Amino acid sequence: MAVPSRRVTNDELAKTIDTSDEWIRSHTGIGARHIADKDTAASDLGLAAARKTLALAIERGAVGEKSPEELALTLDLIVVGTSTQDYYSHPATACLVQRALGAKNAAAMDITIACSSFIYGLETAAALLKADARRNRALVIGVDLLSRITNWEDRATCILFGDGAGAVLLEKTAAKTVPGGILRTILGADGSGWEYLILRRGGSRNPWKKGEVVEEVPAIAMDGRAVYNFAVKVITETIARIMEEENIALDDLALIVPHQANARIVQAAAKRLKIPEELFYLNIEEYANTSSASIPIALDELNRAGRLKKGDLIITVGFGAGLTYGGNLIRW
Ligand code: COA
Repeated sequence: MAVPSRRVTNDELAKTIDTSDEWIRSHTGIGARHIADKDTAASDLGLAAARKTLALAIERGAVGEKSPEELALTLDLIVVGTSTQDYYSHPATACLVQRALGAKNAAAMDITIACSSFIYGLETAAALLKADARRNRALVIGVDLLSRITNWEDRATCILFGDGAGAVLLEKTAAKTVPGGILRTILGADGSGWEYLILRRGGSRNPWKKGEVVEEVPAIAMDGRAVYNFAVKVITETIARIMEEENIALDDLALIVPHQANARIVQAAAKRLKIPEELFYLNIEEYANTSSASIPIALDELNRAGRLKKGDLIITVGFGAGLTYGGNLIRW
């Protein structure tokens, strides 16, 4: 994972907008967020997370290569989940990461479905590895700088978001030798909620016009209540479906790693599922909602803290603009 060093507390936000630490904590569980400086873009943070991932794989003896440069050359694919690409539309942020890593043999693509991008990206990478015997390794990065598309005068949205990146290295192994990996993924969408989380300006529907005086910042507009209700519903249904269809009992699960959007969403889903809240990993207090990055950041924290043991069964689950949702069942 990589997060910017600048940490903005709720109290600091309360100096510029009409809000309070008490309101933000009680309604969302958020205590702070990390905000990138003006010279940092998605590929920079994504690259930092990617470099640390390659270094960790070498340090832990998970790969035979001895240097990140050597390891980067073995990558067949780089997938970047992000909605805050360095450049509007193209080039893909994954191409910028590919160049900087020197991963000359890797294909590169972005997945742009807001907060569900990492879950979709993981399944896309796994499926592309399976699809060709010659593909063996993929790097999946989740990175977002939502601070760049946030209206900092809108207290209903700006308190929610932060910047960050996380990455994982996937390697295809023979199922018989390592009974692990991504065992099952559920992906879904409900386009009827397209307007509930939206960046209205700048696309082919509402392009910026020549000579236009830009009064409106290109910022996230959100129907918070509608997104909240959708989130609780799909998180509950996705976890229940994975457990039922894959025949998993509560005792089999080591952890559930949810997208970190609002602690209250997770608590409501836990209650509906009758799953103890402690089974859900939450770090939203420190990072707020980092969109595509929230799940890989959580995975890295858990991994480095020794809380993920080989063979552990975990579920990742998330949702986002679109509206989209999904979950991965992973044998660590
Ligand atoms: N500080 C203080 N008061 C605030 C506030 C803030 N930052 N933001 C909103 N309020 C006020 C509202 O103006 C409203 O006041 P009113 O009753 O006088 O009109 C009151 O608090 C309640 O607002 P409401 O929007 O109903 O709050 P809520 O309990 O629904 O919480 C969210 C708002 C945004 C926290 C919640 O709806 C949510 O988390 N939704 C999901 C958002 C999300 O996850 N988005 C990303 C998806 S990936």
